[in-house]
Amino acid sequence: MSRRLEIDDLAKSYAGVDAIAGVTLAVPAGALITLLGPSGCGKTTLMRSIAGFVVPDRGRIRVDGKDLLALPPEKRSTAMLFQNYSLFPHMTVAANVGFGLRMQRVPRTEAEPRIAEALRLTRITELSARYPAQLSGGQQQRVALARALVTRPDILLLDEPFGALDQTLREQVQIELRKLQQSLGITTLVVTHDQLEALTLSDLIAVMNAGRIEQLGPPIEIYDRPATAFVARFMGVENLLTAKLVGRDGDRLRVAVGALEATVAPPVAPIYQGPLTLAARADAVRIGAVDVPGAVGARIAFASNRGASALYELATDDGQVLQAAEERRGGALRAPGTRVGITLAGESCSIVKA
Ligand SMILES: Nc1ncnc2c1ncn2[C@@H]1O[C@H](COP(=O)(O)OP(=O)(O)OP(=O)(O)O)[C@@H](O)[C@H]1O
Ligand SMILES: [Mg+2]
Repeated sequence: MSRRLEIDDLAKSYAGVDAIAGVTLAVPAGALITLLGPSGCGKTTLMRSIAGFVVPDRGRIRVDGKDLLALPPEKRSTAMLFQNYSLFPHMTVAANVGFGLRMQRVPRTEAEPRIAEALRLTRITELSARYPAQLSGGQQQRVALARALVTRPDILLLDEPFGALDQTLREQVQIELRKLQQSLGITTLVVTHDQLEALTLSDLIAVMNAGRIEQLGPPIEIYDRPATAFVARFMGVENLLTAKLVGRDGDRLRVAVGALEATVAPPVAPIYQGPLTLAARADAVRIGAVDVPGAVGARIAFASNRGASALYELATDDGQVLQAAEERRGGALRAPGTRVGITLAGESCSIVKA
């Protein structure tokens, strides 16, 4: 059965420095949420508090309404996969996977079929007699995952589970994990630094900054409508531009970035004063002919190849530097020095909190 996880105003500091500074979060039963954020923002501390390896200074954690903090780690029905897998080198794969069941004193007759099931789910049955040193990085990752799943936890905590894998394997394992997690319906938290991984895996993304959740939402919302400049930057938005409010169009705002104008949806979080910051992905900056009405003149300063698209650095006539992406459609890149006219597609921009 899937369980709902609620975290309420959780905080932990070490020697006066906040590792987590008041985190409030609700994860629906069976959902996968990713904690995304830079090194040191408190991701591991939050997970360890849920698992019971860290005692928070204040706040509450509840699973289906029941207080988790009152329970010792072994009674919590959480399982954590650590940042570096920490497999036991002197134990076989099967013994590693069965470790949690031995700790729980599950009788052998019951433990054996459960180990076999965990090995089957993670597709490592044929590796069961090997030792960790005889496995590839991807295989070790599966063993660590099987070891976490075997206890049938209510809450699965995966701290950078794909850190040691190369890009191709990483993408495969992400999809496999997602299928497995959905079929088992385990409420799952995944820590990552990688925005693409978060977008691939999650029902919800929590972007963390300095011990706090800066924005929480479904992946598409976080990607399309970042609330703050920090979230926008973390989600790979290339242009963060100072903008001025010049008018309104229904509930949408007309803003000017130098001589460039765009009509943009209202910000996610209300902004009451000061200059506006406009987050514009490179593909919101459209390149066309110099004489397009409303276009601002610019020069291609630098061109680079991104495969299906090209990325250009543009120097506008009013002194701004912008990143613009354009589909190549099989053609060559535009040459540096070329004069172009640029416009801003407001539907691909967001006003964010600076
Ligand atoms: N046991 C500890 N003693 C002192 N400070 C700690 C301890 N654990 C964590 N911290 C500090 O708390 C902050 C958050 O650490 P945490 O490990 O949660 O970050 P993280 O987001 O997991 O980072 P990373 O992405 O590098 O793993 C950091 O500044 C870290 O130095
Ligand atoms: Mg960490």
